[in-house]
Amino acid sequence: QKHLLSAKSLSIADVDRLCRTAEDYELGALPPADVIGKTVALLFFQPSTRTRMGFEAAIVALGCHPIGMENMTASRSNTRSGETLEDCAAVISRLSDLIVVRHHEVGAAERMAAKSLKPIINGGDGWNEHPTQALIDIFSLRRGLGTIRGKSICFGGDPRGRTVRSLVQLLRFESPREVVFCPPAHYEVPADLLATLSEHQIRCRIVHNLDIPLHESDAIMMAPYDMSDIGEPAASGYVSPRMTPETHRLTAERVLNANSNALIYHPMPRLDEIDPSCDELPNAMYFEQVRLSKFMRMAVLGELLSIGTYP
Ligand code: CP
Repeated sequence: QKHLLSAKSLSIADVDRLCRTAEDYELGALPPADVIGKTVALLFFQPSTRTRMGFEAAIVALGCHPIGMENMTASRSNTRSGETLEDCAAVISRLSDLIVVRHHEVGAAERMAAKSLKPIINGGDGWNEHPTQALIDIFSLRRGLGTIRGKSICFGGDPRGRTVRSLVQLLRFESPREVVFCPPAHYEVPADLLATLSEHQIRCRIVHNLDIPLHESDAIMMAPYDMSDIGEPAASGYVSPRMTPETHRLTAERVLNANSNALIYHPMPRLDEIDPSCDELPNAMYFEQVRLSKFMRMAVLGELLSIGTYP
């Protein structure tokens, strides 16, 4: 059974092919005939705007049908009354052709995959992984920079969340010149991320002030503060801040004063780490990133719903 549970399972050939397919969809390519009319279940146990609506937009654009409840943690779902994720997968995979799941528990998508008759896409499991966001980020970085090869990519903000974890897995193929982490002073960069990059001979630096990457990096991927505790505070063990330190906030004034050409990305949602004054800057790529997300999600869904080549 094909699934997309982790960015670790993707090869460079997968990433290249999905980027090409996403580009084709952007240019108006039609979905494979065997995909049209299929049903995709959207199971969101945690809040979401982009992933939930982005998948739904992609499903409709492919000629498929979304099904799901507005909020699986609300009283209308039987997981509330103790039904396991495994039973949920066994049942819903008999009613749909693919399941997208977001859950506060690390490994939730994998648990569902063990019992599902149909492909599972991990739409975010706790602090662990968010593979479609990483594919969108790579697609957007390649689009903005031409190539990631030889470029300096900075992660601004919280380095511990699922979007950073998955993107680092894909950056290992892209040969950036360096990866710079710019977390607030009391945030540690997870050792396994540094190890993954160094295993692939990618230089890493840690700095604690965004002025440095504004001068030196080609792209700044602002990481959202880890919000995997939303809805289930005990799940991640992390405490999310609700205020970004001044050293880590981007404002238009700061970007303009630095005369920076660094492209600014953000998987979003943002708290206060990018001031809305940045939105009109030519550097601001984060809304374009959302526009591109629909085409990448079409590519992923298309392959998993079809008899395509995805492993
Ligand atoms: N980027 C992302 O996962 O956003 P949502 O939480 O709104 O889905």
